[in-house]
Amino acid sequence: MNAPYDGIDFHRPTQTAKDAEYILQALNARRVAGGGPFTHRAEKLLQDIIQAKRVLLTTSCTDALEMAALLLDVGPGDEVILPSFTFTSTANAFALRGAKIVFADSRPDTLNLDETQVETLVSQRTKVIVPVHYAGISCEMDALNAIAAASGSVVLEDNAHGLFGTYKGKPLGSLGAMATQSFHESKNITCGEGGALAFNDTRYVARAEILREKGTNRSAFFRGEVDKYTWVDVGSSFVISDLLAAYLTAQLEGAAVAQAHRKQAFNRYMTELAGVAAKHDVKLPTVPAYCEPAYHLFFMQMPTGAHRDALIKYLRERKIWSVFHYVPLHLSPEGQKLGGRLGSCPVVESAAERLIRLPFHSTLAGADQDRVIQVVAEYCAKHV
Ligand SMILES: Cc1ncc(COP(=O)(O)O)c(C=O)c1O
Repeated sequence: MNAPYDGIDFHRPTQTAKDAEYILQALNARRVAGGGPFTHRAEKLLQDIIQAKRVLLTTSCTDALEMAALLLDVGPGDEVILPSFTFTSTANAFALRGAKIVFADSRPDTLNLDETQVETLVSQRTKVIVPVHYAGISCEMDALNAIAAASGSVVLEDNAHGLFGTYKGKPLGSLGAMATQSFHESKNITCGEGGALAFNDTRYVARAEILREKGTNRSAFFRGEVDKYTWVDVGSSFVISDLLAAYLTAQLEGAAVAQAHRKQAFNRYMTELAGVAAKHDVKLPTVPAYCEPAYHLFFMQMPTGAHRDALIKYLRERKIWSVFHYVPLHLSPEGQKLGGRLGSCPVVESAAERLIRLPFHSTLAGADQDRVIQVVAEYCAKHV
């Protein structure tokens, strides 16, 4: 008998063959706190993928961003330029340190940080520029790095969406001084909750180890470099359990299968929705020729906000789960307290109203994808 039809999930966490085996290995080794063998193994795997000089696992991408803000000594009087079209954590890390958040608009094609806007917003007080590679498609990193170099600011990539993507052949996460990663269950690979801070500039590493370990030189102690460990700097508890690092190790080792599936599903949406998009003024993602996406998510922009809301409802009535993405930060209640106002980021304001994310994950079945495509086409034919 067939299982009752319960619809098409928007998302499912990626699973790999070894998730449970490695978690059990960590349990049986009785080595479940941070800094254990799986932590080192996952950090090395990530280092190779990102081609970073060093990677430190953290409890989340949010924590990696907060660690980066501490490392860069961001404080009152400093300005941080970031896209309005991002998750709250990108801004929180710097708002928590008392910096001024400067929201930038997005490019209309990729919806990424608009480098021409950044050029106009940069000032002597700009300490950090934070590109977010939306959906795993790269920002214009050459231009952003040039602006940062000219202004003496630091580029920190919020690479929550970008693991496995590339820009001009270089891995996303290897293009700024530092990059943050997320392994939340919504990401391409996961350990439930987790993150990492990757370093391309090694000057930050020694202090980062201390900040991550509650302000102590515990890492140096375990390497035998000091004979006792003590409080040497500010810090917090950003270390991930080896149980979660074991889960992440399995995911990193099994990522190729998940990525191949996501690439195929992304390209299928692109090909099979192209006709509908052209006919009904629906915008599919733009992928510059020199970018390989990370295939994190699939989105479309409907011609109007009313159509976006109606399509989400139309899909839901057919048990297909889709979602909107990012309430622009500059228009959020907290963003407005920080000076955000309607009209200051018109591209983001329009895109956020019209954007819909379709079901997309590492095991999306072909038949389910067919159904999503068919229902989107049906809605557009009837209503747009
Ligand atoms: C762009 C971006 N940055 C940061 C985060 C925060 O990640 P985490 O949940 O690992 O803290 C997210 C979460 O979705 C995100 O989309």
